[in-house]
Amino acid sequence: MRPRLCVIPGDGIGQEVVPVAVDVLRAVLPEVRCEPAEAGWGCFQARGEAVPPETLAAVRRCGAALFGATASPGRSVPGYRSAILTLRQQLGLFANIRPAASRAGLSPRPGVDLVVVRENTEDLYVGRESRDGDVATALRVTSVAASRRIARTALRVADARGAKKLTIVHKANVLPVTDGLFRDCVREEIAAWDGPSAGIAVEECYVDVAALRMVGAPESFDVIVTTNLFGDILSDAAAHWSGGLGVAPSLNLGDGVGIAEPVHGSAPDIAGTGAANPAAAILSVALLLEHVWERPDLARRVERAVDGALAAGVRAPVLATVRAGVLEQLATESSDGGTHEPDAF
Ligand code: NAI
Ligand code: MG
Repeated sequence: MRPRLCVIPGDGIGQEVVPVAVDVLRAVLPEVRCEPAEAGWGCFQARGEAVPPETLAAVRRCGAALFGATASPGRSVPGYRSAILTLRQQLGLFANIRPAASRAGLSPRPGVDLVVVRENTEDLYVGRESRDGDVATALRVTSVAASRRIARTALRVADARGAKKLTIVHKANVLPVTDGLFRDCVREEIAAWDGPSAGIAVEECYVDVAALRMVGAPESFDVIVTTNLFGDILSDAAAHWSGGLGVAPSLNLGDGVGIAEPVHGSAPDIAGTGAANPAAAILSVALLLEHVWERPDLARRVERAVDGALAAGVRAPVLATVRAGVLEQLATESSDGGTHEPDAF
């Protein structure tokens, strides 16, 4: 069956970087069929819905989507809820996969190559907050099912990348019930795993120590599996080592459906100027190739092309330069993956 992609540019620079990523995808997977759809703050303003039902239906039909970015109103607006949170919830996208790798020419440090596998549905993000007088409370939810599911996703990611080590990040010393449950579920799934990562080195790390290591020794991580809030924060810190928001990709993954999404937002300060780096969106497409369409060979091609284009130098206008650079790399690279990754830091 022909692979299908639901294309949701969203707001701000999403409108600019998504078409570039689609061009790159078409260069490596010409048979892909694209279906455009709308979502985001602009869509809400125009139609009264941040995620119209036909967008949800299109993502379900395609099984894969690329979402650009959403702007937010910055205040509570009746009836409005973040498009990406709605999509994650409605489609059961329980895993968030966020790799960070040193990118030649942009990274402040060579040698970083890690992936954060973050639980995407529970924890404090269930959004159950209440206020009673001067005290406000947020509920933190951890379930066996979600913890086991994210552990299996992390193991599949470890299998795919031939990982050497899996780090369970938690805070079970202070939160023995919730994080103790998470840790125990992950341990059990690891023990039961019979994929290529069976027997992988496993370590546990409290989140505060993990934060210190992410700053001081990021190359000591390979695959990290953790809860929603910790993963959110650690993966942003990790993005620094790959060269910042312009090159940070992510994938929201559920059963039979995935939405790739650059980590950045709508960047109103540079929207319309051509200064947006499309690499994050392009690398997000590589995550779809790897985890949804099961074409790791094509994912590697795209990553090599991005590295080649970035190593050649990111000059203004960034959007057009990186687009041209990546497409040129793809056109010149032999399809058997014969070129070498540039090594210039
Ligand atoms: P942002 O990620 O949009 O921008 C932060 C800074 O990074 C800005 O200076 C921007 O110019 C720069 N930047 C971001 N992406 C870039 C790229 N591809 N190339 C070069 N520079 C880039 O975050 P900010 O400014 O805090 O939020 C702007 C809007 O985006 C807000 O409405 C916010 O709610 C929304 N947002 C949406 C997200 C999403 O769609 N998942 C994530 C983060 C923010
Ligand atoms: Mg994002």
